[in-house]
Formats: sequence, structure tokens, C-alpha cells
Amino acid sequence: MEDITKHPILDIPERKKVKFSFDGKNLTGFEGMVISSALFLNKIKIFGHHVKDNSPQGIFCANGQCAQCNVIVNNIPVKACMTPLKGGMIIESCNGLPELPPEDNAVSVGDSKILDTEVLVIGAGPAGLSATKILGENNIEVILIDDKAELGGKLVLQTHKFFGSQKDVYAGKRGIVIAKILGNSVKAILNVQVWLNSVCLAVFSDGLVGILKENKEYALIKPKYLLIATGAREKMLVFSGNTLPGVYGAGAFQTLVNRDLIKAADKIFIVGGGNVGLIAGYHAIQANIEVVGLIEALPLCGGYKVHEDKLKRLGVPIYTSHTIISANGKKSVESITIAQIDKNFNAISGTEKTFACDTILIAVGLNPVDEFYHKAKEFGFKVWVAGDAQEIAEASAAIFTGKIEAYKILKEIGISVSENLNEMEEFAELMKAKPPQPIETEIKFKEEGVYPVFYCNQEIPCNPCTTVCEQEQIETIDDLITQLPYFKGEKDCIGCGKCVAVCPGLAVILIDYRKDKNNPLVTFPFELTEEKLEKGQKIIVVSNEKELGIFEIHRSRILKEFPKTQLISVKLPSKIAKKAVAIKLFQTKFNESIDFYQKSLTDDNTIVCRCERVSVGEIREWIRSGVRDFNELKALTKVGMGACGGKTCTPLIERIFREEGISIDEIIPGTKRPLFIEVPMGVFANTKNKKEEL
Ligand code: FES
Repeated sequence: MEDITKHPILDIPERKKVKFSFDGKNLTGFEGMVISSALFLNKIKIFGHHVKDNSPQGIFCANGQCAQCNVIVNNIPVKACMTPLKGGMIIESCNGLPELPPEDNAVSVGDSKILDTEVLVIGAGPAGLSATKILGENNIEVILIDDKAELGGKLVLQTHKFFGSQKDVYAGKRGIVIAKILGNSVKAILNVQVWLNSVCLAVFSDGLVGILKENKEYALIKPKYLLIATGAREKMLVFSGNTLPGVYGAGAFQTLVNRDLIKAADKIFIVGGGNVGLIAGYHAIQANIEVVGLIEALPLCGGYKVHEDKLKRLGVPIYTSHTIISANGKKSVESITIAQIDKNFNAISGTEKTFACDTILIAVGLNPVDEFYHKAKEFGFKVWVAGDAQEIAEASAAIFTGKIEAYKILKEIGISVSENLNEMEEFAELMKAKPPQPIETEIKFKEEGVYPVFYCNQEIPCNPCTTVCEQEQIETIDDLITQLPYFKGEKDCIGCGKCVAVCPGLAVILIDYRKDKNNPLVTFPFELTEEKLEKGQKIIVVSNEKELGIFEIHRSRILKEFPKTQLISVKLPSKIAKKAVAIKLFQTKFNESIDFYQKSLTDDNTIVCRCERVSVGEIREWIRSGVRDFNELKALTKVGMGACGGKTCTPLIERIFREEGISIDEIIPGTKRPLFIEVPMGVFANTKNKKEEL
């Protein structure tokens, strides 16, 4: 593993090197990066071993949700993915249950302040930031908290440009840029207090919210109004080898690569063809990581077609109607076995293929982090919910629902709101809608002049190309954001290239017949290297299906407004120009399957509760003997009683119930108690403990 020192989109900051030790070995990392990333940087993926079966443990969510990454720092167990590295740290792997710290000194107990605020916003991702901006600009006193060290939530992982409209959700700008824009405006508002590295632990029945402020001080906040914008956590799958280090969520991968700048893998395989999986594949390629393949259980990928096309053009094989059979490897992932599935989602025997890879990304959807919202509602808080915590959708939709909920709070406070909330809600529904099937379109090429060509054939909410056109000649059908764009042609295109540079799907090119009808000049967007491509350099021109040939760059430019997107113009024979969609630098390297297939575990041995290592078979047995109550299952097997509090395994257990023919209404849900994040008990009494010294 190495750190990423150049990237086509991300700026690489100066980082201070510090020394630390892990299990007695002297290592080097960058100050302030989380410990898990520092360990990855040193090629360490196994952070400890489970007490029950000695299975290797490593990073899984990279988001503070699962506690799989526990390590011992200066005698205190901490989550490696949430604890910043400091020079001189003595880190040890967590093997079995961590011991109590050796010293037993008396501790001083401090007071917990109760702070009043008008609005408390939990979560500073796209929804929380856009809501706070509106509330703050309306002179409302807001405390905004987030458990990470910087504002932006998942925006800081998103190097791609956003869909939607420029007016409503910054379409055409990258998530990392939107995080800065929103973050800076929120920080500049005097009546907004921002608490970073501050974890919400619980909401209580007396109207208080418990926060571990800046990882050291327990504070109680009494908000008049509460907005939950806590985002989402990744779903997991049950398959053989699912807990091997090297199997983790696509979001965790983006955290390692795009936030912490670690080249976290050499060869990845992606499970899931929704937007998260498709985008993670593109992010991997930008970080110079090979994507061996991607599987999707459905006959078509569920993500945006333009994201899928980007991967296909770069030669990533996409296997639809396929599932994962197993992650294989002794101590960590060495290969993946996949198989084709029939229409009932059963693997078809004999279709298994195994590919070498060191990492398997699970991108099979997200679950809302909504436990705080439900508890707050139950306790009678005046509470609203926005973003993924409300409903899983694109981050652009989260920006918009954050705005809507902020306006609702303003109305509740008694501030007049000029926005039409019904119209906004309708627009939000459009933004959240699942992408429809692509439409078969035929492009008509007029062999004269210059004009944009749109390889955009799915009705998704996106229209920045219509906004940036200098000549106001790009429209969507009926001016609807979900309709396909077209070039009106009432005025000449001037070939400025802004529509090419702004398109989040990289699905617009310019074709210019003005100088040579037989060899038009075709302009493509390019975002795969930080080096500026030069005139005369050879590149490969591709359609969505195949390579069309090697050609020379005729012109290369970068527009001021779109500094990370190169516009590369190539003279192409007319026939090829009509098929060309993109360019790339290297020939596709296709990975053949390897001759290995061995199901390492039977299905019933597969682990469903990662924290307590409870298998599918154990759960199945109790369901078959009549258990329908989650609490009873907990008592019988310890499932859901581990550090993560059942966040990962609950949906998986529900699935086992379904497989056993038990409907969701027959299941008695487990009791959810206020504390949703694990912390040392002393925190509540504001005791001074070792963690404060980390
Ligand atoms: S990997 Fe650190 S809490 Fe999940």
C-alpha cells in the first residue's frame, strides 16, 4: 500500500510524517489521518482477532458504525477508523476482548453542561449543511455537530460532478467542491456553532441530546427544534468469507482513497451495480487501482447509465445477473468467486468463475441512519429528518431535502417563507426517483457546423448543460429536468466546450465539421490523469462498446470554470467520429478467471453478526424452532449485542426470516435503547480518562 501522490481531481496536501508503533513495529504515518488509514499505508489490514473464533478483524465501515476496526492505543480500545494518528502512539492489535486499563486511579467527575439552542442539526453532510445554511442565514441560532474532522459528510469522498440543476443543487460541481462552498458559508455565519469530531450518543426522554464534544467532553443540548441529517450506513451481504479483511463497503473504500489518499488496493472487484458501486469503480481507476469486474444481481445495473458507460468504456467487465459465491483467502481476500443466477436469484451450478483480487467492495445499497429520528419522535421532540436519513437517494437530493426541512423549521418558528414547499417537495420526489430504463435513441449527424452530441439516454434529473450554454441553445424536452437534452440550433454553437466540461456523466462531446467534413474535430472530456495531455500525444478513441483506434491529439485545453476536466480534441474519420464517445490512455487489461473454486464454508456457517460471530445456521435453527422475537434471538445467540448494536446484522437477519417464509409483520422488533454509539461509561460523568490524552 502506498499513499496517493498524484490524482487527476484531488489536490494532494503537504502532510506531516509521524512515527508510531503497531505491535512493537516502528511505522510511519501522516499526522491526523485516522489510525486505520495509517495501518493500511503500512500494508496492515488485520487489526486484531475475534474472541470467539480468532477470526481476523479489520476495517469494514470506515465510518464509526461497526467497531470491527478496534485497536488498543496507549491501553485504551478505540475505533481505528475514527481516531486520528498522533506521533508516538503505541498501538496494539485487539486480540480477543480488550483488557481493562492497568491503572485504577480515582477519577475526577466533571459537570455536564446543558446548553440551550434554537436548532440542533446532527450531521454536517449535504443535507445538514444546506439546512444549516438556510437556518443560519435567517438568523436562527444553530449548533451543527458532526462526528468527522471536517464538514461535508460523504461530499468529501465525491470527486465526481453532481447531477441535478445548477440553481438548486450545484449540478456540474464536484462533491468535494460543494463541501467547501457549503462548509465555508456555514462557518461564516456568526449564529452557527460548528462542533466537529463530536458524536451524538443519544436522545433522551427529557428533551436532551447527549453529545461527546470533540471526542473529550460530554455535553447535553436542549434544542427547541432538532434536525436529523445523519446519512446512511452501507448494507452488507451474507456469503462465504464475508468477514475476511479486504471485504468492505464501497463507501469505506472511497474514504480510504479519496479522503485519506491511500492506494488501498491493487485489484478490486465490485459487488453491486447501483450508483455507489459504479462510482466507486470510476474513483478506483482515477486512483490507479485496477477494477477486475463488477457484478449486479439484476439483469440491468440499477445506477445511472452514464456511470455504467464510463466504466464499460474503460474496459471494466460488468456481469449482470451474477452474484457473489465467496470471498476466498486464508487471512485476507485473495480472490472472489461469482456465478450467474436464474430469475429466482439462485446460482446456476457450473457457471462459477473465480478472479484474483485483493479487495471486494460491497455496494448493495444503504440503510438510513434514522434511529435518532425515531427515538426523538417517540420522546416528543420537535424533530425533522433530511437527506439519506429520511430516504436513500443521491447526495444532490440530500442537499435539496435539507433545504426543504430547514424551511419547514423556519415556518414552525414563525418566520415567513416565500418558497413554495409543495413545489419543492415535488421536485425532491423527482430527484429521489429511481432511474428509469435507458431509451433507445438514434443520433442524427448533420455533417456541417459544430454542435454538441449527447450520449445521454436516460431520463434522470440533470440539466447543467442547458444552463452553461453560451448561446442558450441547449434545452431539455418540454424544459423538464428529467427529459433528455438536445441542441436547438437556432443560433450557431460557438464550440466553447462548456457543455462538454460540465456534464456529470461525461456524456457530451462536440463535433466540428467546419474545417473538414471528412475528418471532423471531436472534443471529449477527460479526467483520468493529473498530467495535461498535449497536442501530438497518442490516445485511444472508444465507443461505449469497443476501442475504435489510436489517434493523435489535435488540441487540448482546460476551461477556467472546470479546472479538472481536460477538453481533448481529435481529428477523426467521419465514420469513427459518429461512434466515438470518449478517449482513454491505455489498452484494456482483461482479467481471465482463474482455475480455482472452492466453497470455503457452507451457507449455514456464514457469519451474519460480525460482532458476536453468530452464523446463519444458528439463527435459522432458532427461527425454525419458533422464535419470532428479536429480543429472544438476542438472548439466545447474542446476535445484535455486540459493539455495533445490531446496525449491520439486523437487515440480514430479517432476510433470513424472509427466506424461512416468515413475513416482516410476524417478527417482533428488537428494543432500541437511547444509546446508539458505544462510548466508555466515564464519558457520561465527564471523567478524565486516558482517551483524552490520545
Ligand atoms: S471500520 Fe471502524 S467502526 Fe467500522
